[in-house]
Amino acid sequence: ARPRVWVSQPLFADIVGRLREHFDVDDTAQVTQHGSAAIAAALAGSDGALVTLNDPIGAAEVAGAGRLRAIANVGVGYNNLDVPALSRAGIVVTNTPDVLTETTADFGFALMMAAARRITEGERWLREGQWRQWSFETLLGGDLHGSTLAILGMGRIGQGIARRAAGFDMRVLYHNRSRLPEGIERDCRAQYVDFDSLLVQADHLVLVLPYSPQVHHLVNAAALAKMKPTATLTNVARGGLVDEDALADALSAGRLAAAGLDVFEGEPAVNPRLLALRNVVLTPHIASASLATRRAMVSLAVDNLIAALGFGPDAGRPPTPVNAGQLKR
Ligand code: GLV
Ligand code: GLV
Repeated sequence: ARPRVWVSQPLFADIVGRLREHFDVDDTAQVTQHGSAAIAAALAGSDGALVTLNDPIGAAEVAGAGRLRAIANVGVGYNNLDVPALSRAGIVVTNTPDVLTETTADFGFALMMAAARRITEGERWLREGQWRQWSFETLLGGDLHGSTLAILGMGRIGQGIARRAAGFDMRVLYHNRSRLPEGIERDCRAQYVDFDSLLVQADHLVLVLPYSPQVHHLVNAAALAKMKPTATLTNVARGGLVDEDALADALSAGRLAAAGLDVFEGEPAVNPRLLALRNVVLTPHIASASLATRRAMVSLAVDNLIAALGFGPDAGRPPTPVNAGQLKR
């Protein structure tokens, strides 16, 4: 019999259709928040799965999935997957880096600008009919040019944002688990500093680091207290990096000027305190959502799944594996 794969969410049908050359495909017609039992049931009869950040999968979900050999995540972040547990079960995990780097960097920059220059706040104010007469002191924001951009997490996306900052004459500081090679620092015109210095010196702090429990609420009340009251915070990584109540406290007390958030701890629910604030730009996890990039992500995930299950030109060598070194043989 042909191998069977589960596709957890509706993705571009013309691209996902390539799976049918090799596999029987069990697809999902509507966006679904699958519970743990539903995921376990879908995986139980599958050899592979194409999943998204909506689908949490760990030991419990794969316990009854004796045939499962590969999970291709459509997304660069894979904190929805318990990779150590999946590796112990011998399951290949892949993600979609690179193809979304520039699109996500574009959006991070846009979100930072919207927060600093109060673009969505101004639009809301105008639509509400509050613009009765032009005034000199309406909606004064902070500048990007000449300011200090602080990037937390200097992977591919962080580097993309740093390269954009050169065009805005920004000084770029970064902090990362490890310092980057000098050549990359020079390319990005970015200077390494420790986490505290990053917070203290930031005019605009942008979060682009992968989420793991070790960095849960890395930006908490103590971290926010170190930032300038004129600074902005932008998050295009994962909501769990930020203590949202502490952020709401800082924004409402004027201890931070503004925030741009594309990701939230309880997505799709958004902390009501953030919803009530004017000085925060809120977008629904769309940083990688250009049509071309979302299609490229699905295409890469499909290539990964085909290869991981031993078919196609890269049979046995998926292009972007996550756990190649950790798999139990
Ligand atoms: C989206 O958040 C991704 O990780 O690709
Ligand atoms: C993700 O691709 C990153 O390295 O920032």
